[in-house]
Formats: sequence, C-alpha cells, structure tokens
Amino acid sequence: MAEQQRIVINGGKRLEGEIRVQGAKNSALPLLAATVLCSGESVLHNCPRLSDCDAACRILECLGCKCKREQTTVTVNASVISGTEVPTPLMREMRSSIIFLGSVLARCRSCRLSFPGGCELGPRPIDFHLAALREMGAEIEENHGYLECSAPKGLHGARITLSFSSVGATENIMLAAALSQGVTEIHNAAREPEIVDLANFINKCGGKVSGAGGSTVAIEGVESLSPCEHRIMPDRIAAATYLCCCGATGGELILTDVDSGDLRPVTAVLEQMGCSIYTYGTEAGKKGESNIFINLHRPLISPGTIRTNVHPGFPTDAQPPLMSLTTVASGTTVFVENIFENRFKHASELTRLGAKISVEGKVAVVTGVKSLSGAELLATDLRGGAALITAGLAAEGISKISGLSHIDRGYESIEKVLRGVGADIKRI
Ligand code: EPZ
Repeated sequence: MAEQQRIVINGGKRLEGEIRVQGAKNSALPLLAATVLCSGESVLHNCPRLSDCDAACRILECLGCKCKREQTTVTVNASVISGTEVPTPLMREMRSSIIFLGSVLARCRSCRLSFPGGCELGPRPIDFHLAALREMGAEIEENHGYLECSAPKGLHGARITLSFSSVGATENIMLAAALSQGVTEIHNAAREPEIVDLANFINKCGGKVSGAGGSTVAIEGVESLSPCEHRIMPDRIAAATYLCCCGATGGELILTDVDSGDLRPVTAVLEQMGCSIYTYGTEAGKKGESNIFINLHRPLISPGTIRTNVHPGFPTDAQPPLMSLTTVASGTTVFVENIFENRFKHASELTRLGAKISVEGKVAVVTGVKSLSGAELLATDLRGGAALITAGLAAEGISKISGLSHIDRGYESIEKVLRGVGADIKRI
C-alpha cells in the first residue's frame, strides 16, 4: 500500500503549534522482545503505531504469544511459547528482529532464525551479538543462511567486553542474561536512553539489572520474570526530526512528552545554528524537562563539524534530518558519519532540490544555499526519508516523496503531525 503512495509538500510554510511526540520505536522493539521473558501478560503503553512494531508483534505471534493493540497500548501474553523460530520473511522485513535471539534463547534454550538482511545503511553484521551469546554458553551454528542456536543447559553469566558500544548487542545480552544462571557484566556497553528503558522494564518484572546508561551494565540472572505494565519512553529521534522541520521552516513549535535530557546532543547543535530552545515542565522519573519550545529568530548559520557518535554523542539517526537543515544554513557544514558505513544516500536526493553537498566516504560537506526548490524525491531508508520531508518543508514549491514504506517504519502519521502544525503536506 505505502509503495504506491506519495507525500506531497507545498513548502515554505512556517510551522506553528504543538506536537505530542510518539513513543520510541527503538525502545518499543527491544521491549516487545523482552515480553518473551515473562510467562504472563505484559502491557506496554505509548507503543507507537509503526510497521516495525507490527512486524515485532507478528514475530511474537509466530512464537506462540498473543498480541493485542488498543490505540497505543500493546498487550502481549507470553504464557505459552510454542515455537522458537523467527520466519525468514519477518527477519527480512525488519533487520532488528535479531533482538529476539537473546530473549527466546533465555526462555526456551533454543532459537532458529535466518541472518538478518543487510539494510540500506550498509551491511548490518551481528558478530558482537553471536560472540557474546556464545560466551554465555549458547551453541550457535550458521548454515545455509540460518542460525541454529541452542543452550541445552541454559545460559550462564559471563564477563563481556564489547569492542564497540553496539546498542543491539547490549540489549540482546541484557535480555539473555536476565534469565541466565549467575551474573553477566557488559563492559563498553551502549549508553543510549533506550538501554535504560529496557533495564527499567526488566527490573519491574523482577530482574536485577544495574548500571544501565553507563559503560558497565551488570545483570544478575533470576529464575523467572513476571509480567509488568510499562510506559515506553518518548522517541528522541522523532522529536529531533520535528525540531529540524521547525528550524527548516522558520517557525515555532512546542514538543510535549519528550525528555529534554535525552535530546541535549541535538538541541545544543540547533542552538549553535541560531534556534532558541527552552525546556520546561518536569515529570516524575524523567531525566530532563518534558516540554521543549523552539523558535527561529534569525537566519540559520552552520554548526561547523558534526561527528555522529554513540550516546551521549550526536545520534547518527538525527544526522539525515539535520543535514537537510544545514543545506539552507549560511556557511559550510562537515558531517562525519562514524556509526554506519553508508548513511548519506539522502544527500543525492537533497541535491535534486538544489542543495550543495559533496560526499567522500564517511564525510559529507554541505554548502548552505539561499533556498531550495521542490522536486520529485525517493526515500530509500527511514531517516533519509525524514530528511527529504524536512527539506521539502523548506523548499519553495511542490515536492513529491515516494518510498513511504521506509518512513512509516519509524514515524507515526508524520504527514498528519506536520499538517497539524501548519505544513501544507498530504499523502496521496
Ligand atoms: C540501533 O541499531 C538502532 N535501531 C538504530 O536506529 C541506530 O542507528 C543504532 O542503534 C545506533 O544508535 C534499533 O534500536 C532498532 P548498533 P543497531 O549495533 O543496534 C556495527 C533507526 O533509524 N555492528 O549500535 O543495529 C553496525 O554495523 C535505526 O531507527 C557490528 O559491526 O546499532 C553499525 O555500523 C537505524 N557488529 C554499528 O555497529 C554487530 O554485531 C552500530 O550498530 C553489531 C553492530
């Protein structure tokens, strides 16, 4: 369905109004995998309505779980796990399905899944995941594209040092360790806020995770976990995208239900570019204020050099929408993409709008131009698609964006959200 659809934007309209930010896709996915650890009915609130979350629920149902969605509340009954295989089509549909390996192994002591397909960002290896699970006692054979995993005697604790602070590997180890015998330590763990959300869920279910959000995470395995009710954290990347959309149109927005602490690496850059940002309103349990006000009171200027990095560095997922913003900022911006090998594919599409960008390996140089003009654009990955929408909002005239299935993976009704704050945008 999304294949034939297009988003049509008549750009140049200031954005003004308020957006309640969706729940975090990159927390919802590991949390949905975590429900497999609990024999009972878990409830996840603020689960965004995204095709990636639908795919994760289909995987849960293949495993024998019962999933139910009412608005943004997803209930998963994992009392009975009748299968331990993730079917290939679902592995292909969502690369991050590898996140089910840890929890299925921990709960059922066996798991069969095919190698996750590469994705638009380049190869997506899983060597850190497999090496860590082997250290915890898993036997994993790779043949004919399938991973045959088993832990007949159950998984046991291990002291694991990640050569790179991989988000997915950190999450998979936490999920596997929660029900293992003994203590697992993860050194050089990822520190993303989604790791903290996952640790909070596991602990609410009776698990014993400490140190999440820091470089060393310790998980003491327990006999069993009981289900709980949990509200998924706000999506910091969706929030970052809407902030960039506002900067690109010279408007003013209030974002609610965000965590400004999680967004600091992004808001700091937007302030350097000339945006005024105020945060206010603190909700219990949040690291920062829960509302952000942004407005643009003078022409945008380049933030200089942006290096993507693991948290708390500048998030790679916000690089594409920020690049769109820098195309109309005065001065030259240098992007160094340190996390993924091939995450500048949106650059060539942006040049169709008149942007000046030259890409050399992991470096992209953007020279600001006065204005962009509408064009036909094709999204080839999720955040690249968000970059095209951001630039389309800034461009004079009509832009038509196809490849919406990528965008719908991570943004809940993005055209409705933007239309609600004054954008001339529709899906046809
Ligand atoms: C998560 O992906 C996010 N996805 C990504 O968001 C995000 O860009 C990424 O973390 C970095 O923050 C989800 O949470 C579902 P990594 P993940 O393991 O876990 C290499 C989006 O747009 N690597 O930290 O796959 C890998 O190739 C998505 O929402 C290995 O070499 O990220 C990449 O270059 C895109 N071997 C780098 O590490 C491994 O075993 C970062 O990967 C694992 C990863």
